Amino acid sequence: MELKHRPRRLRSTPAMRNMVRETHLQSSNFILPLFVKEGSGIRDEVASMPGAFRRSLDTLLIDLQEVVVLGIAGIVLFPAVEDDLKDSFGSEACNDDGLIPRCIRAVKAQYPNLLIMTDIALDPYNIDGHDGIVEDGKIINDQTVKVLVGQALSQARAGADLLGPSDMMDGRIGAIREALEEEGFTDVGILSYAAKYASSFYGPFRDALDSAPKAGDKKSYQMDPANRREALKEVALDIQEGADLVMVKPALAYLDIISDVKQHFDVPVVAYHVSGEYAMVMAAAEKGWLDGHSAMMESLLSMKRAGADIILSYYAIEAAKALQGLPVELMTQVKK
Ligand code: PBG
Repeated sequence: MELKHRPRRLRSTPAMRNMVRETHLQSSNFILPLFVKEGSGIRDEVASMPGAFRRSLDTLLIDLQEVVVLGIAGIVLFPAVEDDLKDSFGSEACNDDGLIPRCIRAVKAQYPNLLIMTDIALDPYNIDGHDGIVEDGKIINDQTVKVLVGQALSQARAGADLLGPSDMMDGRIGAIREALEEEGFTDVGILSYAAKYASSFYGPFRDALDSAPKAGDKKSYQMDPANRREALKEVALDIQEGADLVMVKPALAYLDIISDVKQHFDVPVVAYHVSGEYAMVMAAAEKGWLDGHSAMMESLLSMKRAGADIILSYYAIEAAKALQGLPVELMTQVKK
């Protein structure tokens, strides 16, 4: 054959492939989600998420050292709240001495350069397991937003860098931004879960926090997986209301949405590689059905290629290690 173009030339050696590679992962673009609970000495593995743990504050502080050394940008904290602190209004979410504000203060004191992101939603605190207040079987928007503002302020007072409203109530970004301005928290960022879908891929996360809805589902506030244009509307509203960064969640099944958001807006785009996406790879890798290490890197790369600037992933530590050429343990043996 006499071919003018042989695309394989650019794939012929590792040096050539490295040179022409279009997308690169880096640890400074990762945020690691972490589960915390009351107690001491706790490092409880989540059954459906091998390698992910519920930690008490003391073990969290020890384990964060690795996160910092690896150059991971930050963490996002999710609380497993004790049952006796839960009520219909999620009041504990606004407690300045609650688990999350205490963790934020302690982590900031020990690791001042690590970014701390929070989650704003009532589901870990609410006896109904919904992100908002439930009244007659309905999730009521405007009253929920008032509690979310209280939650946001208590996280800002504790020293959070980025607030992450994940509740999908209407108008919450504007209300939180206004309250932050009024209280003088002009440097606190809002990373809004702007296009968050009602997804089955959150299952393992709800196991980790025991936060599954007691009745009904989240479809009256989280988005319909069938909708694409609606994501642009949600993102546009959140930016208008004062979000600094916007998230698409989940990631892998929504790469088209990540790509759309990247094309239409000029704020950083964040992808959340959620618990179920992690669990799928871990389960298949444990069975020896696929190579977990390369499936992890390929998944993360696809999010970046689609347009994500920043990725929240339970794989942040292992991926950061892989990027530095350090041994990746997670895929070959599950940590106990
Ligand atoms: C709660 C929240 C959820 C996740 C992040 N924040 C669960 C949900 O909306 O039901 C899911 C994250 C994951 O699955 O990794 N508002």
